[in-house]
Amino acid sequence: MKNEEWKMIEKHAKAWTLEAAELLKASFENTLTITYKSHIADLVTNMDKAIEKFFIEKIQEMFPDHRVIGEEGYGDDIKDKAGIIWIIDPIDGTTNFIHQQSNFAISIGIYENGKGKIGLIYDVGGENLYFAKDGEGAFLNDYELPRLDKASLSEAVIGVNATWVGPNKRINHENVQEIVRKSRGTRSYGSAAIELAYVASGKLDAYMTMRLSPWDFAAGLILLNEVGGIATKTDGKPIQLLEQNSILAAKPGLHEELLGYLIK
Ligand code: IPD
Ligand code: CA
Ligand code: CA
Repeated sequence: MKNEEWKMIEKHAKAWTLEAAELLKASFENTLTITYKSHIADLVTNMDKAIEKFFIEKIQEMFPDHRVIGEEGYGDDIKDKAGIIWIIDPIDGTTNFIHQQSNFAISIGIYENGKGKIGLIYDVGGENLYFAKDGEGAFLNDYELPRLDKASLSEAVIGVNATWVGPNKRINHENVQEIVRKSRGTRSYGSAAIELAYVASGKLDAYMTMRLSPWDFAAGLILLNEVGGIATKTDGKPIQLLEQNSILAAKPGLHEELLGYLIK
């Protein structure tokens, strides 16, 4: 795909995201229809569905040969990484969207043959657009994000959800407790996309979680890559784009230090 074509994709992806954000803000005036997916904490609203459909219609009209993976299932059934794939979370942080009307994001990662090309995370309430393009850097609105410096745990603020600090079936919680104790502090924002954008922009030094889907991390990985952040699974192995993964995203140095606690 030529540079000119990527510029076109970028232009549309940004414009559609801002348009979708307006639809989300306007929806605050209306009553949401809320339903459960797998369990009572797994919520979906009419707006999650509407925003996903909005993007899919636009993409199909403008780029008919591109494919889409969307959380709500209106996209394509994709088993391989060939061609251009948009990986979309129409609302990341649905619980925040419902309870707080803040700290939720539209997250879009665009990949070509499995390589991250464009990453876009729009924090709708904060009106902050995190954007990255392969080889051209990462930006927070008009500000180019600097490359991340090395960090160490004793001076680090770590994004981690309380779920992983108590007994759970995915990770030895005592290892996580040790990280919490030795860090400068921990935070949890309830939107994986925003937390990955925070690592890319240096607001968090690391973010770790035990199970994310492609739409939660697709855009964040592209942002991190542009600023020299490191992202792997929590066992240090490579993240698989089309699967659920644990995620450890961190500044250089700190990533290795954290792996030392997680792999024992
Ligand atoms: C969720 C959020 C949350 C993370 C969950 C995700 P959703 O996405 O990113 O922070 O802990 O694992 O499923 O359901 O709000 O799009
Ligand atoms: Ca999500
Ligand atoms: Ca979602």
